[in-house]
Amino acid sequence: MLETKRKVIGQMIVCCGCCCGATQKGRPEVPVEWLKDEWRKRGLLKRFQLTVSECVGPCDIPNVVVVNSDNGSQWLGNIGAFDQYRSLVEWAVRCVECGHLLELPSELQEHLTEPWR
Ligand code: FES
Repeated sequence: MLETKRKVIGQMIVCCGCCCGATQKGRPEVPVEWLKDEWRKRGLLKRFQLTVSECVGPCDIPNVVVVNSDNGSQWLGNIGAFDQYRSLVEWAVRCVECGHLLELPSELQEHLTEPWR
């Protein structure tokens, strides 16, 4: 098995594709630059991968965020408010401080979805 020196506790994929963040289509904004800045300022870069992605699939529930870890994937939809992205950043900070992924914030639990059924 290949080994990587880059060890992270998780990856957050923030969709910003054809629908997520497509404000010209009336969809909520994805604060991409703010997220990148927070990731840098809060010291998350080396421990929690932030990936801004093109379409990840479930375009009917924009905006979509996927959290990957060795425990699998958690998919979130309808992340349309800035405060929800702020919650995700604060959660990522707490996870890095603990060294593992914590349960998602309660206010985001209702946004969980399973696109593979
Ligand atoms: S653009 Fe985000 S799921 Fe398609």
